[in-house]
Amino acid sequence: MSSASPTRKILVTSALPYANGSIHLGHLLEYIQTDIWVRFQKQRGHQCTYVCADDAHGTAIMLRAEQEGITAQQLIDKVNAEHRADFDKFLVNFDNYYSTHSEENREFAELIYTRLRDKGHIATRSITQMFDPEKGLFLADRFIKGTCPKCKAEDQYGDNCEACGATYSPAELINPKSAISGATPVEKDSEHYFFKLPDFQQMLEGWTQSGTLHESISNKLKEWLDIGLQEWDISRDAPYFGFEIPDAPGKYFYVWLDAPIGYMASFKNLCSRRDDLDFDAYWKEGSEAELYHFIGKDIINFHALFWPAMLEGSGFRKPTAVNAHGFLTVNGQKMSKSRGTFIKAQTYAEFLNPEYLRYYFAAKLTSRPEDLDLNLEDFSARVNSDLIGKVVNIASRCAGFVKKAGGTLSAQCAEPEMLAEAVAVGEQIAEFYEKREFGRAVRLIMELADKANQYIADKAPWALAKEEGKAEEVLDICSVGINLFRQLVTYLAPVLPEMSRNAAEFLNLDSLNWDARAELLLGHQINAFKPLMTRIETDKIDAMIEASKEVLAEEQKLKEKPSANLHLTDDPISPEIEFDDFAKLDLRVATIIEANHVKGADKLIQLTLDLGGETRNVFAGIKSAYAPEHLVGRQTVMVANLKPRKMRFGMSEGMVMAAGPGGEEIFLLSPDQGAVNGMRVK
Ligand code: MSP
Ligand code: ZN
Repeated sequence: MSSASPTRKILVTSALPYANGSIHLGHLLEYIQTDIWVRFQKQRGHQCTYVCADDAHGTAIMLRAEQEGITAQQLIDKVNAEHRADFDKFLVNFDNYYSTHSEENREFAELIYTRLRDKGHIATRSITQMFDPEKGLFLADRFIKGTCPKCKAEDQYGDNCEACGATYSPAELINPKSAISGATPVEKDSEHYFFKLPDFQQMLEGWTQSGTLHESISNKLKEWLDIGLQEWDISRDAPYFGFEIPDAPGKYFYVWLDAPIGYMASFKNLCSRRDDLDFDAYWKEGSEAELYHFIGKDIINFHALFWPAMLEGSGFRKPTAVNAHGFLTVNGQKMSKSRGTFIKAQTYAEFLNPEYLRYYFAAKLTSRPEDLDLNLEDFSARVNSDLIGKVVNIASRCAGFVKKAGGTLSAQCAEPEMLAEAVAVGEQIAEFYEKREFGRAVRLIMELADKANQYIADKAPWALAKEEGKAEEVLDICSVGINLFRQLVTYLAPVLPEMSRNAAEFLNLDSLNWDARAELLLGHQINAFKPLMTRIETDKIDAMIEASKEVLAEEQKLKEKPSANLHLTDDPISPEIEFDDFAKLDLRVATIIEANHVKGADKLIQLTLDLGGETRNVFAGIKSAYAPEHLVGRQTVMVANLKPRKMRFGMSEGMVMAAGPGGEEIFLLSPDQGAVNGMRVK
């Protein structure tokens, strides 16, 4: 339905970033992907509107504000300004960037809730939860820590153990503590409000299989839908930073209830300033406008189950599609603060041109929800060779000769077929953009750039220019070059808006409208050429990595870092044991000879350990701190006589020994040099 159709009305959103953290390169993958798609639609002449906002509610934001000694409002205002500045730098061009803590959002949240309630889609019942008596706060699982009831590892979060992978309810933790105040939580009842998702089972079964989602996601959701949906808890007790539920004083909408409604609120807010946009034309049931949500694969449930059900139940239209992307890794690994690869938008922009990143993401993006790796070596090689070596090179090789001839391009095209081909391939490129196959679009664009460079190299205008009476031919060749360059920057404009704008200035064009490319530049005056982009210098990349480590170091100084000034009383010594108890433990020196990621496990790494003549398979909950490739070859200490345990992923035959609270702070124990595998630790 793409190119031939008349002007489409398209509303596009990206997920709303939380208002308590900085934008990093992982986020940017999403906002850049969306922005490219939106710019493409606009360039094609469609009415495309891109809205977003900060996701400003929830306990985390409330606590963060408290920690910083400011009000929640002050915190979200500050972060909103930061986020806007970051997005500007990366040329992410929202038509509106708003906040979920807005009057519009309150109104829509109340409207949707009351409509759902009046149609019988809301239930209430009392539930029992952990409560922090000191803070007067119900505690979500991640705010409770204690000793694992299965393996006795200490300092584990409320619902699962990083050491052994067990899952449990927070009430089962041994010696549980509130992570906020340190108080011992108590169980307490309270009335909660539930959205009756099962009422929408049938609608969702149809909607999720109707081309609204990538096939792999539809299949995953089908598995869940086959099991059956649960009612969704949409209320939280005061104190909470959010909107109070209209008929329930002291109860607040859970942040994920009003977050997607923030898409509507941001658009509504924009409509109040724009005469050409009508809210109902986009949101009322049966609307013919298109609505697309771009999100990461981690928040599919909210967008592909809860959200369409909320919309259906309250009489609004549902999304045309939900486009999920995968996660960003850097150099093949999860972004890591200690390795300096957890790079904030701000830090990147201090060192490198944001358009490099836009290009690299575009070159690797597909429509599939797969992870994308930013390999920093490949990044600089690719940007330098494609953008500087191929694209910019064409203009810089031709511009001088045109200028010498007076600055006006030839009145006739010397290679009409070549140009016709370059125009024609634009239809295919457009199709790839439309389908979010940006990598394939970029490949076609670079093939065209290769052809253009080949043509110029073959004709060698610099050699001809030295000969008598060849001036006209030189101008003809360079005019072909400039016309090809114009096709290229038209195609790259969604990805490289600033470079394209400067190129348009050089070409003396008002716009790079997609269809206008068919009209060649003949007898057309161009402007002086200025360098459009410079090469990536690798020392800038190194400096960025270093700075990312520093940013972190400073943040850690600011934060209360429990492990830095750990007192024994924070983690008291366990009750005394007899020597015999100790003697039962058989600890051995072992070498990690193999380490692998475990499919489907967030925290585990599979280790093969050599005990000197015997190998063991062990699943260790150390993924948050170690990459498998850094473990291979290391010597460590393991409990060799632990009864093998069957885990979801296979048999675990022992345990490696590590210290620390968890997360990035896990420290694997190693013997001194000279220890031999199989030696007993006594
Ligand atoms: N506030 C919610 C979204 C509410 S939408 C109604 C949220 N915020 S977030 O800040 O955690 O993430 C915002 C978006 O960035 C999400 O779509 C998320 O998937 C994406 N990403 C966050 N980290 C990412 C990577 N490392 N890689 C790719 N995308 C990532 O979720
Ligand atoms: Zn455990």
